[in-house]
Amino acid sequence: MVNENIYILSIESSCDDTSAAVLCNDQVLSNIVANQEIHHEYGGVVPELASRAHQQNIVPVVEMAIKKSGVAKEDLNAIAFTRGPGLMGSLLVGTSFAKSLALGLNIPLIDVNHMQAHVLAHFIDEGQKMPEFPFLAMTISGGHTQIIKVSGYNKLEVLGETIDDAVGEAFDKSGKILGLGYPSGPEIDKRAHLGDPKRFKFSKPKVDGLNFSFSGLKTGILYFVQKEMKANPNFISENLNDICASIQHTIIEILMDKLKKAVKETDISQVAIGGGVSANSGIRAALEQAEQNWGWKTFIPKFEYTTDNAAMIGIVGYLKFLEKDFSSSEITAASRLKI
Ligand code: KG4
Ligand code: ZN
Repeated sequence: MVNENIYILSIESSCDDTSAAVLCNDQVLSNIVANQEIHHEYGGVVPELASRAHQQNIVPVVEMAIKKSGVAKEDLNAIAFTRGPGLMGSLLVGTSFAKSLALGLNIPLIDVNHMQAHVLAHFIDEGQKMPEFPFLAMTISGGHTQIIKVSGYNKLEVLGETIDDAVGEAFDKSGKILGLGYPSGPEIDKRAHLGDPKRFKFSKPKVDGLNFSFSGLKTGILYFVQKEMKANPNFISENLNDICASIQHTIIEILMDKLKKAVKETDISQVAIGGGVSANSGIRAALEQAEQNWGWKTFIPKFEYTTDNAAMIGIVGYLKFLEKDFSSSEITAASRLKI
């Protein structure tokens, strides 16, 4: 058993990306992601449209992942799927599909927590350094902002989280105020390189402990922009890069302040990040600085494993497979699943 290769097909459909991957043990053979362009014109994810698009995409995406992996369906050892958290209609598509396929192939089904997967994506073997337990993980995405103490694959303790908006929402909602497309995080990041991060000051929230808050920042940016536009209707277009750089700088400071506090309180200086916002060049640079300046050991995911993807679901599936931690055939999707 130990020397035998384990092939896992994994499926992710929690939000607006339909993804399927095939792993051989802890290595990724294929990882296909279909983004749903449809939401761009609405300035955010429309749940009803997301579930319809998943239903349309799931068969071709799974077929492509299997084909690209070179693994025959009959050789799969298990199917892993995202049970939650996420949008219920979206989760139901992946859950039902995974259950049916596992039943058809007569192989075990493994349910995966999406947020645990963002954390454990660091254990996908790509020849890189991997964190050792215990380490701290900061999950930063469009739906979550958490600092987690990870003492084992299945021992995750949330030390702090956002009390309102997630950090990805702070990027996306700020972008909306500035007239940028959805999601705005990548464009703010791009423009931040061309602007002055110290040009505009936005006040940072005061939140207890290791919790976060981002709704005040968004309101602060809105009032600031409205005031400036009254004086100069071209304010946004004339200063867009500086505004983006200043917003990004403020957000990174908020995240790093809490991480520093978490490292101090726990005395753990191995720090990993995960989730869509971990693609941000500012947070990546800040962590690299922390490694040089304060001796932290930091773990930054490869770009393809930052935003939602099935490979991260597959690695959790593999780790659970080793423990024979399988799901019952009656398992249901859980939109508010906790870590
Ligand atoms: O993890 P993810 O793909 O989906 C959720 O589970 O939410 O994260 C999506 C979020 C969006 O808010 C998007 O704006 C943000 O990640 N994002 C970024 C960058 N790339 C994606 N935010 C800042 N900078 C980026 N480069
Ligand atoms: Zn995610």
